[in-house]
Amino acid sequence: MPVTTATVPTGTGPMTTVLVLNGPNLQMLGVRQPEIYGSVTLADIAATCRDLGAQLGLAVDLRQTDDEGELIGWVHEAFERQLPVIINPAAFTHYSYALRDALAMLTGPVIEVHLSNPAARESFRHTSVVSAVASGTIAGFGPQSYELALRAVARQLNGGAPGGPSAPAAT
Ligand code: DQA
Repeated sequence: MPVTTATVPTGTGPMTTVLVLNGPNLQMLGVRQPEIYGSVTLADIAATCRDLGAQLGLAVDLRQTDDEGELIGWVHEAFERQLPVIINPAAFTHYSYALRDALAMLTGPVIEVHLSNPAARESFRHTSVVSAVASGTIAGFGPQSYELALRAVARQLNGGAPGGPSAPAAT
């Protein structure tokens, strides 16, 4: 079953919407190879992202699709609406030049996330064709990868310098 959730802004100030896009097979989290991906479901990740997003002033719109064209359409939407993107492209990571070309259009934060650490897995996972057009990549922290990505987006929107998220002010 596809997972799509969006938060309704409840605060007084305007909230920036962040698209949290998920590629093929990620709706199966919880039952899919739990020894690699754990037991947390995509709905659990959506709820956690929603709560953290609210704390960070971000309205989280989490979506999943098995369809490359639909995923690319959502990236086009991010371009048109100028929205930051967190994306777990799943297997598309390793071969979708079309997805890479779409992401290359974006001028705001684009964070590539993975639950597992592809660099520690099969050799075909060692190549990401999207990393070079992402602001940065967070991989290997399970569901926490998404939380770290949300924090990175919040930092980037608050003036994070190119080349890395802004560091906290020195004390
Ligand atoms: C993944 C890693 C990919 O190699 C794999 O195809 C996935 C999930 C991850 O989140 O660890 O489907 O993106």
